[in-house]
Amino acid sequence: MADFLAGLPKAELHLHIEGTLEPQFLLERARKHQIQLKYLSLEEVQKAYQFSNLQSFLDIYYLGMEVLRDASDFHDLAWAYFQKAALQGVAHAEIFLDPQAHISRGISIATVMEGLLGAVARARKELHLSIMLIPCFLRHLDEDSALDALHQCLPYRENIVAFGLDSSELGNPPRKFQKAFAKVRELGFRVTTHAGEEGPPSYICDSLDLLGAERIDHGVRCLEDHQLVERLIRQQIPLTVCPLSNKALKVFPDLSKHPIRKMLNLGLLASIHSDDPAYFGGYIGENYSQCEGLVQLTREELALSARNSIRGSFLGKEEKSRLLEKLRRYCESQQVRLP
Ligand code: HPA
Ligand code: ZN
Repeated sequence: MADFLAGLPKAELHLHIEGTLEPQFLLERARKHQIQLKYLSLEEVQKAYQFSNLQSFLDIYYLGMEVLRDASDFHDLAWAYFQKAALQGVAHAEIFLDPQAHISRGISIATVMEGLLGAVARARKELHLSIMLIPCFLRHLDEDSALDALHQCLPYRENIVAFGLDSSELGNPPRKFQKAFAKVRELGFRVTTHAGEEGPPSYICDSLDLLGAERIDHGVRCLEDHQLVERLIRQQIPLTVCPLSNKALKVFPDLSKHPIRKMLNLGLLASIHSDDPAYFGGYIGENYSQCEGLVQLTREELALSARNSIRGSFLGKEEKSRLLEKLRRYCESQQVRLP
């Protein structure tokens, strides 16, 4: 099974690059920049990575970013991630970043992008990965701050496929960002938004209707609204589901209670992703393998997730067809039948 999953061609559509900050890397960069962290040992960091909900995670997540100061920090972080992704069968990755979380600390977007894009270029060349960036607006901040971040990202537009919306969901509804996403669309970018992770199903509807979202990140709470489920199936709206994240942030009590299997079998365009793997206990490979083990997904269902991830990506038509063909051939060789 491990070999089958590693070889399964898939797209990573829900990965916050700042969420790949491993405890070891955090301690090492804190030492490099002489930053006093409240943890001294690896064990202390790991102990702090116990969360009760989204906000309890975000508090630690923004603290961790303090150690990302210069371009080499961003480069090394991303390069370590791309190497892991390539080993886990990721053929295409659309990577989230949180520009406002760096700008607000006095780290320029030029520093962030110099590091990240250096790693992206290297991964495209040496690992043959297809990669695009998705800067996200922090929804706990105001719309002017989002618009400022959008403008600061424009010099890097060649590597940006879409803009996203993340951070504290409850109390920060999609309608807060209507102007920002109208501008995003006017500039020709695609739109994907976190919705229905902790927030109600209406945040999913409003993301689609008010922000022009084409894809929904998480979206698991759609299951509470039958009409919405029907719409998501009918319109084949991609849902980027992150089982280990949902477990860590107590969206569901246990992985065995996770609805990913139900979502796949209902015909939703759902797929498995990682969110913040350094904090939630695993990258895309571990998300797939634990779903196999604990949600008892079959090889057909795992391959369906991989196909949905490619279909749900923002790749152009030709690249999508090329990857889907690669997946089809792989499934054939493994005697896995897809509908
Ligand atoms: N939800 C909202 N914001 C985030 C997340 C998440 O899962 N990860 C990083 N920022
Ligand atoms: Zn996320």
